Amino acid sequence: MLITFEGIDGCGKSSQAKLLADRLREQGIECVLVREPGGTELSEQVRTILLEAKHRSPISDSAELLLFAAARAQLVREVIEPALKRNAVVICDRFLDSTIAYQGYGRGLPLAYIRSVNDLATGGLIPDITFLIDVPLELAIHRRKDMGDDRMESESRLFFSHVVQGYMSMAQKHPDRIHVIDGTDSMEDIHHTISRLVEYELGNDLRHARHFILEDRPHAAPVPATESFAYSFSSRVEAMAN
Ligand code: TYD
Repeated sequence: MLITFEGIDGCGKSSQAKLLADRLREQGIECVLVREPGGTELSEQVRTILLEAKHRSPISDSAELLLFAAARAQLVREVIEPALKRNAVVICDRFLDSTIAYQGYGRGLPLAYIRSVNDLATGGLIPDITFLIDVPLELAIHRRKDMGDDRMESESRLFFSHVVQGYMSMAQKHPDRIHVIDGTDSMEDIHHTISRLVEYELGNDLRHARHFILEDRPHAAPVPATESFAYSFSSRVEAMAN
């Protein structure tokens, strides 16, 4: 199962991603936590290029898009796909919705290009669940106040209001996948809401897999919990191929 966290800088998603990973691990579930851009040697190098505050000449919008995509392509091939294949839960701090929100709505690059580039980078992989942590822009800016902005974070308020608009329109388009969470609630309350939903989905996944496999092979023994995630992933890959 692939779970992603999204939202503007300073919304608190990285802390929530970590809390969820810790909770699942406590339950004995293998959980891989990665951030974007990053998570592999190559992707971390691309991250440095992308987020370093000072460049001799500005990075063009299309070069920025392709660099984020390059970091993602490597992360998917090297870490995410192998983890999903061995039934781990993968939690990704930012994924393809960030590119739509930041490079699409923020920079104004055509969404059709972004979708093609994302498809190439991910091989069509789409998260099972996305949590969009929603906080007012002012609060996010206030939380980041003492942290020192990187290249993306030093963008204008107008840029970030477009990013927020992008996230909200994605949430409207994909209500089954994207769950908008009120980021002004306490850390504990947010964590509780998120973990309940994930545990519910993990339970469903398991029931679904048991049903499928037992129907297909009526004499088969009950399936161990971990097989369910393999089924979820391979069926999605099949669906995408058709
Ligand atoms: P990071 O320090 O990880 O920010 P945060 O902790 O808020 O996630 O920096 C990632 C920055 O890169 C962030 O400003 C969002 C931006 N970004 C994009 O513009 N496009 C993308 O596809 C991704 C993954 C991130």
